[in-house]
Amino acid sequence: MSAKDARTFWFRDAVVYQIWPASYKDSNNDGIGDIQGIISTLDYVKSLGVNTIWLSPMYDSPQVDMGYDISDYQNVYPPYGTLQDMEELIRECLARGIKLILDLVINHTSDQHAWFQESKKNKDNPKRDWYIWRPAKYDAETGERIPPNNWRGALNQSAWTWDEATQEYYLHLFTPQQPDLNWTNDECRRTLYTDTIEFWLKKGINGFRVDTVNLYSKPMDFPDAPITDPDAKWQIGDSVFCNGPRMHEYLQEMGAIFAKYDAMTVGELPATPNVEDVIRYISAERSELSEIFQFDISILGRSAADFYATHPYTLKELKEVVERWQRFVEGTDAWPTVFLENHDLPRAISKYASDKPEHIAASGKMLALMETGLTGTLYLYQGQEIGMTNVPTTWSHEEYKDVIAINYYRDAATRSSNDPTVLKKTLEDINRQGRDNARTPMQWTAASNGGFSTDASTVPWMRANDNYTSINVAAQEDDEESVLAFYRKALAVRKQYASLLGRGEFRLLERDDQQVFKYVKIAEGGKDGDAGARAFAVLNFSDMPQEYQVPEEAGGSKARVLLGSLEDGQPGKLRAWEGRMYVYEP
Ligand code: GLC
Ligand code: CA
Repeated sequence: MSAKDARTFWFRDAVVYQIWPASYKDSNNDGIGDIQGIISTLDYVKSLGVNTIWLSPMYDSPQVDMGYDISDYQNVYPPYGTLQDMEELIRECLARGIKLILDLVINHTSDQHAWFQESKKNKDNPKRDWYIWRPAKYDAETGERIPPNNWRGALNQSAWTWDEATQEYYLHLFTPQQPDLNWTNDECRRTLYTDTIEFWLKKGINGFRVDTVNLYSKPMDFPDAPITDPDAKWQIGDSVFCNGPRMHEYLQEMGAIFAKYDAMTVGELPATPNVEDVIRYISAERSELSEIFQFDISILGRSAADFYATHPYTLKELKEVVERWQRFVEGTDAWPTVFLENHDLPRAISKYASDKPEHIAASGKMLALMETGLTGTLYLYQGQEIGMTNVPTTWSHEEYKDVIAINYYRDAATRSSNDPTVLKKTLEDINRQGRDNARTPMQWTAASNGGFSTDASTVPWMRANDNYTSINVAAQEDDEESVLAFYRKALAVRKQYASLLGRGEFRLLERDDQQVFKYVKIAEGGKDGDAGARAFAVLNFSDMPQEYQVPEEAGGSKARVLLGSLEDGQPGKLRAWEGRMYVYEP
């Protein structure tokens, strides 16, 4: 370790609570969540047993992509508050022993960022090269002007937009309002380090969730993507532009800054299925990122290529994905993450268990139990702790606010000339997979709109999930059997048995069983077959009753119940969506 390496690896025991500012808590009744709203709930956050907050983008932004289009890294989106509010949030977190990490979105900026406004002025502008501009190509037969390659952007259009004024295309892997920065430009890159990363680390934050971290380096000859969809004009380019040639060089530069501040970083790592590729990003010795989100679990039940295409998956597949991304760090110096939800994903209860009203609470607690026993940094998303679910299937398409959902619906309408059957199916897919499921207002009370705003007559920016009358924090505070009460209990147990639950080694049992998920944890530092401590989790992923025995390798009859997800549980038996955790301590 160099003299400037101050890393303590505190993130390994972190339990992180993700806050989506627009939908968390509105303190001033304009219908939009804000930083003062967050400050007002810090004692609640602390009471859950989490010790770190990840705050999704609160920077100034035209909000084309909910703040993932940043127009000013050093200011706050005015409806959320001011820089002073952020400084207060940092102080208030510190006072409670809560670490705070921000979202670092530096693959692209907003097209309204001053840098891009300069860049598009003319070809000689000093900021021209800070973005990726390329001349047109022309079709050999028709002479028609075409983009430099066939890459598809996030809205199923070309990833290139033509600029009339300067007669060139610019690249945007997401929406046209999110132009990609040119990381090969040294001045651009260095400015990102000082003006985004260090600017906030100096203010006392503890690290970053790093947006689309493997996209910074592109192959600068911009080759076409392989044709995977012969009917489409634009092709998915992930295999060409993810994990590009200079990725690790950039991350070494960034890693040196993170190490100096003992900052934790969790990189969003799409389209990276191979373990060796993942380890290269997070090996402690390499000092790039602390950890990453690998998305195999999120892709279960949908195709990697089409965000909204839904297909069935089995419990066996779920178990094996969990196993793979628990065990991939064995024998390395890397650290895993555990998550089921975030702002881009449907709600876990709806996706992995059952959101039938009678099963919601049981499902929420069973999933909590599953996650509590897994090794790695644990991430919870706002509302997960009270068992929030996907929005009702009865909502019309107008209730959805996500740019990707809106575009997807509009496309389907145009292509099918408003065919009702197509539109119905499109809406079902959006309901099942859509990002808006996670973005509805947090449900605090049974008052109108879930008490999201202080004044119940305020209409929130996005409709609240209709089930706020039954699913809300206030109701669960008074209920010892609630999902919320269970999360508090489970996180306390996780802390108490850290070497088994948060840090142990994972072993999958009975992988072919399609109803029950069983796993054993070996205490940190232990080995298969040794006489050390064990935890055993048994989780019913069905609405039928199940029976089980604690296996000998987990202590058999000598193991005792540590945590049961439902009241009055009967050892050896599980009711619908029930789970139980055992510990054996010789
Ligand atoms: C990440 C974010 C997502 C955003 C995209 C573009 O995937 O999680 O919400 O749309 O990056 O910044
Ligand atoms: Ca507000």
